[in-house]
Amino acid sequence: MARITVIGSYVTDLTGRTEKLPRPGETVIGRSFTMGPGGKGGNQAVAAARLGSDVTMVTKIGKDVFGEEAVRNFQAEKIRSEYVAVTPDAATGAAIIAVDDQGENMIVVTLGACGTLSADEVQQADAAIASSDYVLVQLETSIEAVEEAVRLAGEHRKPVILNPAPYHPVPEAVWQKVAYATPNETEAEGMTGVTVTDKETADHAARRIQQMGVENVIITLGKKGCYLLEQGQEGRLIPGIEVDAVDTTGAGDAFNGALAHYLGTEPSVEEACYKANVAAALSVTRAGTAPSMARAEEVASWSNK
Ligand code: RIB
Ligand code: NA
Repeated sequence: MARITVIGSYVTDLTGRTEKLPRPGETVIGRSFTMGPGGKGGNQAVAAARLGSDVTMVTKIGKDVFGEEAVRNFQAEKIRSEYVAVTPDAATGAAIIAVDDQGENMIVVTLGACGTLSADEVQQADAAIASSDYVLVQLETSIEAVEEAVRLAGEHRKPVILNPAPYHPVPEAVWQKVAYATPNETEAEGMTGVTVTDKETADHAARRIQQMGVENVIITLGKKGCYLLEQGQEGRLIPGIEVDAVDTTGAGDAFNGALAHYLGTEPSVEEACYKANVAAALSVTRAGTAPSMARAEEVASWSNK
């Protein structure tokens, strides 16, 4: 079993399904509405926990009904929530999501409480970080929380997986402490200026990211799988599996949570990437974000096909 500490966002996802996504100024009639747990940090925590990892979540919620739901959800998913800070000063975050019939989405996320996660609050989780196999971080909280998470992980010599989503620039010193950076194509372009369209451009972007100080780079390529560049090795394309997309929202989170889990249990990074591709594809076949994450048995039965 892998021990993972996730430091990141929790928000409530408010999702409307519609045939076509609206254009600016347009109103479209939706066919259904759902409300459920979300946020990149929370989704990645659920993804890892459902595969069997021992997961601790570090985030911040408001003193409100969405916050109460968050804690209930962490308990139901067997995620440790003792370092989830609760503030009366901000509301639990929320994401307004529209998903169309092709499974494509549009998201406006308001971070609320989790956007004010402080370095001190991250420090509370020092013991959890110290006993982790992997520390998993995104860019959907305050940058000071990211910096503190990476600093503490470094102090305890714990490998950091940094999923730079949603992308915005971070100090160079952060990248130098990252064992695995996991951008998607657009995030890789944001980091490097290289437009990723195929194996060659993925390799080019991945090498630039290594030059920023990151040890290993995994660029996720949607249904094409991912491109893995390990320190001192040749890059490899690790194929994804074909599925009918119902909802791609949170697929990146499915990949990252699963990657953290399988890095702790599989014999090679390549095998971990392959299984993370399978877990991400399975999540795409179901509606929703956290609720659509795959379980260990499902990934195992697909991997053997
Ligand atoms: O990555 C998907 C997530 O991004 C959604 O759950 C939404 O909350 C946004 O933060
Ligand atoms: Na899904």
